[in-house]
Order: sequence, then structure tokens, then C-alpha cells
Amino acid sequence: MTINIPTSNSINGDKLAEDIYDAYGNIILEKDTVLNCKLKRYLVDLGIISINIYNPLTNFDNYEKVHKTIIQEVESTLTCILYKNDHIYDEITEYVSKMCKSISDNPIIIKALDRIKKIDNYTFKHSINTSLYSMLIAIWMNQSNKEVINATQAGILHDIGKIYIPHEILNKETKLTSEEYEEIKKHTLYGYFLLSNFSEFNQEVKKAVLFHHERIDSLGYPLRAKPDYVGITSKIVAVADVYDAMTTDRVYKMSISPSEAVNYLSSDGMEILDNNIIKVFKKNILKYDFKASI
Ligand SMILES: [Fe+2]
Repeated sequence: MTINIPTSNSINGDKLAEDIYDAYGNIILEKDTVLNCKLKRYLVDLGIISINIYNPLTNFDNYEKVHKTIIQEVESTLTCILYKNDHIYDEITEYVSKMCKSISDNPIIIKALDRIKKIDNYTFKHSINTSLYSMLIAIWMNQSNKEVINATQAGILHDIGKIYIPHEILNKETKLTSEEYEEIKKHTLYGYFLLSNFSEFNQEVKKAVLFHHERIDSLGYPLRAKPDYVGITSKIVAVADVYDAMTTDRVYKMSISPSEAVNYLSSDGMEILDNNIIKVFKKNILKYDFKASI
């Protein structure tokens, strides 16, 4: 299982899935070579624009240790968001433990979270929070068990493609240039390519990774797709994603309160996100004192 990425976006540990040749037909790096900063620079300097690598989500070296670390981190992130101010929400405890089990039992999700955690802690926590909100929205919408699992998985994986967005762009504290914004947008495509060959995830989950930035006015990315085309799970993740981003502090912006975020969703948000999902979310979320923070 391989994916093609720009050479300059490769990260330490990526493994070549093919021999690389220079302009004269000489092998310069062999298949299975594990890339590091020096080798990446070497390839870029030689004008190798893109490379085929093995899908990093299929590498299970050191799995037990990774699994243990990730589960501890997931539990501490959920404890942080769920049990603030000593509130324990009995009515969702069962769902949250099912969510933890579905993460724990899926090696690809564990591997994905490990890679996300290596890019930055914000994206890691944002993925867990988005998964929690997506799962709750699916439950509040009376979706089937299967659909609730789709929403939970899609929430965790929606930004997995960010592992191939250069760190300096992803974490830039000043305004992005239009070229940098175009680069950021590609995380939806990288995410879809990373997951496309896994039969463990159904098409709804893959579509949500691809389409979570599409909008109901068809001005979103990557395809400016029509709302009928993107699927309900994408629309659920889109609401969860925006809400968590607004209620979480970043280095360059302070968070707003849950009620302010809900007000935004119920006003400007209605122009871009699914109106019915916003209504369901608004009706239910303010019963809880969830407040994400880093
Ligand atoms: Fe995203």
C-alpha cells in the first residue's frame, strides 16, 4: 500500500516504496530506504519532485508501546474535556467508554493518532474532541450504531492528512499567504489517499476525511462539492470541527465560550454548515460544560 507525496513534504521515518533514479538512470536511493531530513534534502536538491512511499499507517513497529502511550493520552484528553469543574456526565459515560474501546481496538487509528501527535499536540487533542462531538451529534440525531461509529472514526481521522503539511505552514502564527492556504487545503486529499485502501473504514468515513471542509453553499474545498454529494458524516464532522476550533485556545487566538460558539453556529454558521445538524447540536450541547483547552 503506497502513496505519492511531494518530496519536500516527506517526514522522518517515511519509507521509499520504489528505487529512485537520477537523470542518467543511476539509482540514487533504493526501495525501502527510510527517509530522514538529510536524505529528503538530497532528493529535493536533485530535483526529485514527488516520491512513492509506503503508507505510514501500515507500519506497526513498536506497536505495544505506541498503543499504551496513545490510549493514556486519549484518556487524559477526554478527562480534561469531560470532567472539568467536577461534573461527571453519567448519561454519556457509556458512549465515551465505547469510543475509547473503538480507538483501542483499531491499530490503524492508534497509528494515525501516533502520527498526528508527532505533528503537534493541538491537532491530536482537536481530533479527539472532534470525535467526541461527532459521536454525540450522531447519537442526538438518532443515527444507527453503525452511523455513530462512522462519525466517531471520521472525527478522529478527519485531519490525518495534516501529517503531510509542512510544520511551518501548519503552525504559522501570522496570516497565511494564498499559496500556504492552498497547501493547507491539501490535507483533505492526503487524508483520503492515506485511508483509501483500508477496508476497515467504510466510504462514509473516507468521504468525511475528504469533504469535512465542504460547505452547503458549495464554496468549500477541495471540490466545492454540492451538499447532497458529501454525505451526512462529513456534515456532522464539519460542525464538530468548527465548534472545537472556536472553543479551544491557540497561540495566536483566544477561544470563545461554548455559548458564543453556539451563537456563531446559529447565525453565520447557518450559511455554511448543515442547518439541521446545527439545530440538533444547539439543542443538546449547552446542557454540558465541555470546554476544550490545551
Ligand atoms: Fe481539516
